[in-house]
Amino acid sequence: MNRIDIKDLHFSYSEEAQVLKGINLVLDQRSTAIIGQNGAGKTTFVKLLKGLLRPSQGQIFFNEQDLKDQTVAQIAKSIGLNFQNPDDQIFKHTVLDEIIFGPLQMGMSKAEAEKAAHKAMDMLNLTGLDKVNPYDLGLSDRKMVSIAAIVAMDTQVVIFDEPTIAQDDAGKELIRKVMKSLTEEGKIVISILHDMDFVAETFERAIVFSQSHVLLDGTVKEVFGQKEALENAYLSQPTTTQLCHALGYDQVFLTPEEFVAFKQG
Ligand SMILES: Nc1ncnc2c1ncn2[C@@H]1O[C@H](COP(=O)(O)OP(=O)(O)OP(=O)(O)O)[C@@H](O)[C@H]1O
Ligand SMILES: [Mg+2]
Repeated sequence: MNRIDIKDLHFSYSEEAQVLKGINLVLDQRSTAIIGQNGAGKTTFVKLLKGLLRPSQGQIFFNEQDLKDQTVAQIAKSIGLNFQNPDDQIFKHTVLDEIIFGPLQMGMSKAEAEKAAHKAMDMLNLTGLDKVNPYDLGLSDRKMVSIAAIVAMDTQVVIFDEPTIAQDDAGKELIRKVMKSLTEEGKIVISILHDMDFVAETFERAIVFSQSHVLLDGTVKEVFGQKEALENAYLSQPTTTQLCHALGYDQVFLTPEEFVAFKQG
């Protein structure tokens, strides 16, 4: 079973600005959403997991191996990170070149890498776009290209930073399906999100970052039940949760379907 152990993790970009102070977490097979207001340190946290930043203090272990003993290139074989902004990630002139780059870097043969790239392209609805320049695509499709490039690498940990940016309902549904299939393969799937409805509908576990600390950590239902704590962290409950609360229900409902089933049950 894959797991990431984070022990007493501290990080600061400068002496005045401590971004993370003493984070202790175990990340495992439960699909996990990381939420928190702008500037809470979510992106910083996942960059530390990926080895792009190094802790000021504390340790991160992937399957009991301390990441400090590994180079960024070694960590990349286990941990994939889809950047918040696809334009920070995309650097090739065709969709296929962009998506095949990672698998080739992982040491796959050209034929294997092409197979992995096409599989990821099919998953993300990019079939047939091999020769298209990613910058001729809209933002939502560029985000899909950037996701496919990470999925194709077949890492045991897959981290998404704001995957639903610019996506309509169909795009969100597709991303949900991709995450589910990665989880079913036994991978650790972690995602930073601002869309609470998507979190409620998609993840098992939610972790709230606030003021350099982990404020809440539990099942999505446990976390979204904490109205006041969420408000203190400048976060809102999912729409259905808010609506049912306003209607006088004490239970925490995460989705319209859940509420309808309750009423019919
Ligand atoms: N390269 C950097 N140098 C200095 N400070 C930085 C740097 N990157 C981020 N910060 C600061 O660190 C803090 C945490 O930033 P981070 O990007 O991790 O937040 P976030 O939770 O991902 O926010 P958002 O939801 O807006 O993406 C912020 O105060 C930010 O201004
Ligand atoms: Mg961020």
